[in-house]
Formats: sequence, C-alpha cells, structure tokens
Amino acid sequence: MSKLWGGRFTKETNKLVEEYTASIAYDQRLAFEDIEGSLAHVQMLGECGILPKEDAEKIKEGLEKIAEKIKNGEVEFSVDNEDIHMNIEKMLIDEIGPVGGKLHTGRSRNDQVATDMHLYVRKTTKEMISLITHVQEALLVQAKVNTETMMPGYTHLQRAQPVLFAHHLLAYFWMLERDKERFADSLKRTDWLPLGAGALAGTTFPIDRERTRELLGFGRIYPNSLDAVSDRDFVLEFLANASILMAHISRLSEEMVIWSSQEFQFIELDDSFCTGSSIMPQKKNPDVPELLRGKTGRVFGHLLGLLTVLKGLPLAYNKDMQEDKEGIFDTADTLEGALKLLALMIETMKVNKEKMFKAVSNDYSNATDIADYLAKKGLPFREAHAVIGQIVLYAIQNDKFLLDLTLDEYKRFSPLFEKDIFEVLKPEHVVKARNSTGGTGHEQVAAQLVMAEKQLENGF
Ligand code: ARG
Repeated sequence: MSKLWGGRFTKETNKLVEEYTASIAYDQRLAFEDIEGSLAHVQMLGECGILPKEDAEKIKEGLEKIAEKIKNGEVEFSVDNEDIHMNIEKMLIDEIGPVGGKLHTGRSRNDQVATDMHLYVRKTTKEMISLITHVQEALLVQAKVNTETMMPGYTHLQRAQPVLFAHHLLAYFWMLERDKERFADSLKRTDWLPLGAGALAGTTFPIDRERTRELLGFGRIYPNSLDAVSDRDFVLEFLANASILMAHISRLSEEMVIWSSQEFQFIELDDSFCTGSSIMPQKKNPDVPELLRGKTGRVFGHLLGLLTVLKGLPLAYNKDMQEDKEGIFDTADTLEGALKLLALMIETMKVNKEKMFKAVSNDYSNATDIADYLAKKGLPFREAHAVIGQIVLYAIQNDKFLLDLTLDEYKRFSPLFEKDIFEVLKPEHVVKARNSTGGTGHEQVAAQLVMAEKQLENGF
C-alpha cells in the first residue's frame, strides 16, 4: 500500500473516493502554516527527549528545505497523498529518508489541521484589519475635502434633512472601525493553540504543550483535547465578522451606484473603475460597486455553510470539518479584493458639489427647521408640525420651495413668523444648526474628523 496509513488496508482506494475526499487542491494554501506548526512540534520533541536531538535537527532541516522548494514552485502536490499534511510528510521522507517518519510522533492530523487553521486565521485576520484601515484612510481623505459639501440626507430614500457629505462618509468610517474591532476581538479566541491534543484524547508521549505554544506565539493552549480538535468557532467568527463587514461594504457600494446614476449625479466614478456596454455606446457602468454588492452574497453563504456543517457533528473530529477551508479562503480573497478596490474607488471618485447643493436647495428638507423655529417661539412641536405640514402642501400646490414663499404667505399660517425665517431656511444654516453632539453641524463634523484621525493613529 502506498498510503501513509495503508497498513490496515487490503485494497487500494477507489479512484473516485480518493479524488472526492482529497483536500490537497485547496489546502495546499496552508503549506507554510503546516510547516511552521511542524517545526515547533519537532523542536519540542527534541527538547523533551522524545526524539534524539539529531533526528529533530534533521527533520527541521528537511522541513526548511521543503518550504524553500514550495516557495520556488519546485514541488508538485499529489492527490495520492490526500491533503497538505500528508503531502509534506511524504516529501519529508523522500527528502531525508525514514527518519522523516518520526515527525508525526505524539501528533495527529486532527490537532495538526486545527493548528494550521489557527495560524491561518490569525494571519488573515491581521491582514483584514490593515486593509480596512486603508479604506478608512480613503474615507478620511474625501471627508476632509468635503467639510462644506452639502447633500440631502435620506430616510426611506426620500430627502429628509440636509447633511454634510463629510458626515455621510464618516458614518462608514465608524462602521469600519467597529468591524476592525470585531476582528481584533476575535483574535483573543483564535489565540488558543490546539497542538498536542492528538487525535482527540491527548498522547502517551511526554510532550510539552506550553513549549509549542511559546514557539508558535499563542496566548494559551486549549485545556480540553476534544474541544481543541473539534471546534471551528474561530473560523465561524472570522466568517461572521467578514459578513458584517461585507454588509457595510455593500451598503456603501449601493450608495455609490445610486449616486453615480444619471438621476443623482452626485459623484462620478473614475473611468478606470467603470466599464462600457457592448451595445449602448453612452453607458458607463459602475461594475465595481455592483460586484462588491453582489459578492456579499457568497460571503454570507460561507458563514451559513460552515454553521450548517458544524451543527450536527458529534465530538470529536469528523471528515465534514474539512469543509471549513474553501469558504474561508474564498472569503479572505473576496474581502481582500473588495477592500483594496473600495479604497481606490473612494480616493479617485469625483464629488459633484454643485449637483449636491442643487439637490438640497430644491427640496423641502428644511421643513423640520420651520417646525423647530415655531417650537422655539413657544408653540408645542406637535402643533408646529401640523402647521408646517400645511405650509409644505401649500408650497407644493403653488410650485414653490419653502424659501420662495413670502413673509406674508408665512404669516397666513402663523403670526409667529418674522423675517429671520429666511435665514433659518438656508441649507447652510439648516446644517450648521444641527450642532448637537454627533450631529451634522460643521463644528460637530470638524470634531468628528479629529476624533477619527486620532482613532487611526492610536489604533485600539
Ligand atoms: N484534510 C483533513 C481536514 O482538512 C485533515 C484532517 C484529517 N483527519 C482525519 N482523521 N482524517 O480536515
């Protein structure tokens, strides 16, 4: 039998079974994590006297050579050896002879693969945090040059109250900040090391799990060997964090699609981020934000996929768990592309300040301010609201905006109106007046920008 585990078998594996059960096509992505884990394991075996020092040394050298070869693209992985763990073990034996077979002492593929996944998730989580930071920086760049730019703020996608464009962009800055915090927080739980749990019950060898923990730089070891090899909650957490992040990215993307439409024209995406139509020569399609929005679906899908894989599994390892990999790899790739593109797209988009201003000037989004005006003069807000409702209706019926009505017209609705109402109704004033903490008023947005910059400098 050519298999590393072939001893107990009397027949070769069916070809279809071999192909169906193999994970090497995708888990070769864990090659360096696998070698890193093995290096720590064999170092510990040597130090504990479980393997003679010379053997441990030979194995380490062999593993390093294999890492080098993989880097140089000099190896070919094979389905015969099922997964990355056995491919590398086989290469090791080919490289240094039978002593290579001692590497797997006191270890199982079950604690090995769990270790590889912890190393992978830890590394990838840190990469995500830094990629999110780049998007936040891009948002800040745009926010800073748009501290005077006014746009309609929406609820129900109906113009509600004008806001500063900087304020709108900064809303996403804080969403991303929480996304980052979620990823950072999940590192605490990814920081547990399963190595040394064996297949499920520990090992008869006098291993030193604290030593491998130290070598691999983890915070603590799993206290329970069954738990160590059978949970993938740290992968789920990554996927959940990724899903929330993608939900945020998708909302911003949707806004970019809307804003760049002919109907809005609030922004223009850089030509290098759009594509044309094969039939309609006038088209400039916002493919990138559309795809970011669209790719959100697969990320949500991977989260639900793994939740479903895990939900019915008896302890400890089950082959089902091999299905934890493609989803997270695809999620990491999807996020990497999304975050890089989003940062560039935000940086290079043109903001059409005039169009935005025209939109805030030609609407009724200053209506709340008339109600506030009357309320400040002592009229109960509820009554003021009713009066303004009538004024807005009157204005619409007469094809006018609120700034176009005369003082006489206003006075017909309430004797409390004075000339100063026209100052109150100007978009600049409407925005500036919202000076409550966290509001869109200019002072508040300036303070928010300072806070956001500090947040980026200090990290968490
Ligand atoms: N390729 C397997 C996986 O990814 C490695 C663990 C295999 N363990 C086993 N007992 N068959 O899950």
